[in-house]
Amino acid sequence: MSTTTTTSWFLACKTSDVPTNGGVCVKYKEEQIALFYFARRNEWYATQNLCPHRQQMALSRGMTGTVKDEPKVACPFHKKTFSLKDGRCLSDEHECSLTTYPVKIVDDLVYIGVDAVMEMAGV
Ligand code: FES
Repeated sequence: MSTTTTTSWFLACKTSDVPTNGGVCVKYKEEQIALFYFARRNEWYATQNLCPHRQQMALSRGMTGTVKDEPKVACPFHKKTFSLKDGRCLSDEHECSLTTYPVKIVDDLVYIGVDAVMEMAGV
């Protein structure tokens, strides 16, 4: 038996549910995912909603912006900032990174990609 990981897309919400240049929290099973829309760049990003600094479910309420053309979110609690592209903490190299998720838009619906592990019988 071997396992392989693939991306499974789940329907998160409508594009109109997400504020322009802001974020919302989406639930997927037991996880909270922060979903962001950068209107100026017409880009979508998704990360874990949990801030690794003090374990607050807060990032979807964070302030979005850019640093050196890299999209970022600042946690509303202590302002640690994270890259929305790869989840790196931009304000503290010792802070943990965020999990990021791919996002795709089909018509006016937002889909978020999550890992799905498939078990395959060996040959
Ligand atoms: S809880 Fe997010 S920066 Fe402190």
